[in-house]
Amino acid sequence: QGCFTYDPGFVSTASCESKITFIDGGKGVLLHRGYPIDELAEHSDHLETCFLLLNGELPTSEQKTEFVNEIMSHTQVDDLLAYTLKGFKQDAHPMAILCGLLSSLAAFYHTDIDNNSQEDRTLVAKQVIAKIPTITAMIYKHGIGEDFIQADSTRSYAENFLYMMFSKGEKDYKVSPVLTRAMDKIFLLHADHEQNASTSTVRLSGSTGTNPFAAVCAGATALWGPSHGGANEAVLTMLEEIGDVSRIDEFVAKAKDKADPFRLMGFGHRVYKNFDPRAKVMKEACDEVLAELGLSDHPLLKIAKRLEQIALEDPYFVQRKLYPNVDFYSGIILKSVGIPTSLFTVIFALGRTPGWIAHWDEMLSSPLKIGRPRQLYTGSVKRSYPK
Ligand code: CMC
Repeated sequence: QGCFTYDPGFVSTASCESKITFIDGGKGVLLHRGYPIDELAEHSDHLETCFLLLNGELPTSEQKTEFVNEIMSHTQVDDLLAYTLKGFKQDAHPMAILCGLLSSLAAFYHTDIDNNSQEDRTLVAKQVIAKIPTITAMIYKHGIGEDFIQADSTRSYAENFLYMMFSKGEKDYKVSPVLTRAMDKIFLLHADHEQNASTSTVRLSGSTGTNPFAAVCAGATALWGPSHGGANEAVLTMLEEIGDVSRIDEFVAKAKDKADPFRLMGFGHRVYKNFDPRAKVMKEACDEVLAELGLSDHPLLKIAKRLEQIALEDPYFVQRKLYPNVDFYSGIILKSVGIPTSLFTVIFALGRTPGWIAHWDEMLSSPLKIGRPRQLYTGSVKRSYPK
């Protein structure tokens, strides 16, 4: 069979070199191009962080204005995309629709693009970052049977997203600055996370020279699962299922029972064996949003707070270093903002898009080898077909 390293789950295999993101899971460190995530969350914003991920440096104020204007100028989508969307059943899972629409972007926007041209790759990056909020809002409006709202490019990226989601197109529609800031933080905190399953999928798919929108779509399919981006949806479903603080112990016991496949959603991480630095920022944003909306006494939040406390004290979670992760808090914020649970993973995809496309771009900027893992064959030895 040859000599291969067998590393199930890729726990100790580096699949590439990258200059974009550094994680030290043991110490709870996450840096984008060298900048700590908590400093970016405090001083930067999502689009500036997108520029940083794509270009390696923070923009000057002129570069930032130009980048923001360019992104906002690409927020519209082709009218035909709306027809594609209307072909989906209204109650289809939003992730299924997102995957369909992302791949169909290739049909609308990638006809003459050369993957080997830096200029073309930068254009694709801007297009996909700009269009995914519009597509997300369209998926939401389709689900509730309302008209799509045209993007308002005079608003900020996050504000425009909330405007397209919740307005009926009123030009003077007001979006709360606290909610805009929280939404922007959710996007920023999800922007990149080195070689997670979805980003690795984008790289593997992109390594074949495929269409970039198709590679991003591949990333979205990997994100969908509950062990990855689907966790924020699973957290809310779990909190609703627990329903009352009095039932928490029962669920914690199930999570600890090795004969039961149930896990506490929103706890644990493959890389962080310390508090996820994104979760710290998300927790603060969560408290801010709940205070703004007067929801601090929300029953789900009480359950969430108690679970968080148990995880930080119970020896089972402490010994295994199972801290609350970013999805634990983002789900609560999204729920409070009025975003339906089934759309949570789409929001994660929206936030992660710059990371996916930055890795695709970085990969194509150097000589490329197609990703082609091997396997350890454990099947039958050679045998003859029965005659
Ligand atoms: N609840 C109960 N036990 C858990 C949990 C949990 N959420 N997570 C891990 N464990 C236990 C697991 O049973 C194992 O115990 P033992 O050593 O006794 O067999 C130990 O902790 C190590 O778990 P693992 O499965 O080897 O860890 P992993 O690195 O393969 O998995 C994970 C990481 C995130 C998939 C897992 O912790 C999990 O399923 N968490 C719940 C889902 C979740 O919140 N996912 C979002 C991840 S963060 C967002 C993202 O980056 O996509």
